[in-house]
Amino acid sequence: MIIFHKFAYLLLIFQPIVCANIKFPDDFLFGVASSAYQIEGGYDSRGKTTFDHHWELNSSMVADSSNAKTACDSYNQYQKDIDLLVDLGVNFYRFSISWPRILPRGFPNEVNPDGIRYYNNLIDGLLAKNIQPMVTMFHFDLPKPLQDLGGWTNPVISDLFEDYARILFKNFGNRVKYWITINSNTWGYGDSDWPPMVNQSGFGDYLCVKNTVLGHAKVYHLSKREFREQKSQIGFVVDGRWYEPASESSQNRDAAERAREFNVGIWLNPIYGSGDFPAIVKQRVKTTSEKEGFSKSRLPEFTPDEINFVKNSFDFLGVNIYTSFLVKDVDERNDKDFSWDKDMKAEIYQDSRWEGAKSNWLKVTPWGLRKVLGWIKQKYNNPPMFITENGFSDGGEIEDLGRVKFMELYLKALLEAIDKDRVKVKGYAAWSLLDNFEWLVGYTEKFGLYHVDFADPHRKRTPKSSSKWYKKLIERRQLDEMYKTEL
Ligand SMILES: *[C@@H]1O[C@H](CO)[C@@H](O)[C@H](O)[C@H]1NC(C)=O
Ligand SMILES: *[C@@H]1O[C@H](CO)[C@@H](O)[C@H](O)[C@H]1NC(C)=O
Repeated sequence: MIIFHKFAYLLLIFQPIVCANIKFPDDFLFGVASSAYQIEGGYDSRGKTTFDHHWELNSSMVADSSNAKTACDSYNQYQKDIDLLVDLGVNFYRFSISWPRILPRGFPNEVNPDGIRYYNNLIDGLLAKNIQPMVTMFHFDLPKPLQDLGGWTNPVISDLFEDYARILFKNFGNRVKYWITINSNTWGYGDSDWPPMVNQSGFGDYLCVKNTVLGHAKVYHLSKREFREQKSQIGFVVDGRWYEPASESSQNRDAAERAREFNVGIWLNPIYGSGDFPAIVKQRVKTTSEKEGFSKSRLPEFTPDEINFVKNSFDFLGVNIYTSFLVKDVDERNDKDFSWDKDMKAEIYQDSRWEGAKSNWLKVTPWGLRKVLGWIKQKYNNPPMFITENGFSDGGEIEDLGRVKFMELYLKALLEAIDKDRVKVKGYAAWSLLDNFEWLVGYTEKFGLYHVDFADPHRKRTPKSSSKWYKKLIERRQLDEMYKTEL
């Protein structure tokens, strides 16, 4: 009997070594994410954003013509959000600060004391429950007056962003350890779907990238220069889409690498790499610009001083991971039209057989997570990373088993990336805490771990199956087949 007992004990001990690792590192941090515009509401207590302005011009730009004036009402009901976070047991909460709530007109001369009070209450409420705030300074809610100046295409924006950040460090920096400067994108500068609807692809979007990178770097240096004693960790967030060649032909492999450099490298190479735009991006835009009759490249240059300034301006990298794309090479075009796509010279699409979420762009591709993290590790010397968003959309079901399945697959892939590929991922934030205002699709696609009743003036929150699953995962710090049967 004793021998049998001993034997069983040994089996138990050795099991984790034999099987794939299902345990997260001891210091791994679990969190959830949100953004100010999408959850706060409190419209009358802040300045107008670009998105507000365009909604007023044409509310049909949003699928259900809805708006974010009340959203989840987190501006008034943040204590309820904190209660949910406590119930989940998260280590950190990634939220964003609304620039026009702090500075109603965007400029630093007029600070809104109610805005300062609101975020003080939120931060203090989180810390009282031992939840670390991870605070994004800019998450797609530019004050309208700054858009009137050209928004992210005007170089002055990086100085105004630094002024805004100084106010944040002064007011909140003594309590916030993790800051994200910018959740990056070029929405609306190269297309006409998103506000600000500038629609200048191949010019406006490149200006936006350069000024975003400069704004980020200015805030990084500001924190190290004027607020060094706060010992904050400063990061940047990139949309970590994976681009897979449609076939193994060298043309398609090169096209996929171009797609990665034009979409991911264009942000990361300046900050996490050489300090400049990726070589292939510089070369492609220069060549196409010349053929189109420009006197120089449409891609703005980083001066040698700027390269030194932006290079290595980070403590960590945040990666939002949702989905993957296939890439095919396309023929060179020889017309006068110019665009980012033409410069990239690649066709990007998704396999219709891939399982999808409610959002048409969101295909379930957990294998892409490992590939994109591995690519970043190899390109940029393995920076410390957080998954700052990862999530699944549906119609808002309480029994959201699609979301549970999605998170389980992606977290499994993340464990493989950590164990097998040795990427330095320090934490993971699920998108999103609550069903919320999803920009152009309004309230028609839901990403929340908690359901929100948008017909109820109190915006009642109800836990979904995914919140119970995630809570258990955080408690046990491991993926476990048993969760499925217990749901
Ligand atoms: C408003 O937006 C919708 C959806 O994008 C578009 O079809 C419509 O033409 C726009 N209306 C105006 C007046 O611009
Ligand atoms: C956006 O720009 C493209 C290229 O210049 C043009 O063909 C298209 O009509 C523009 N779209 C809108 C809605 O203005």
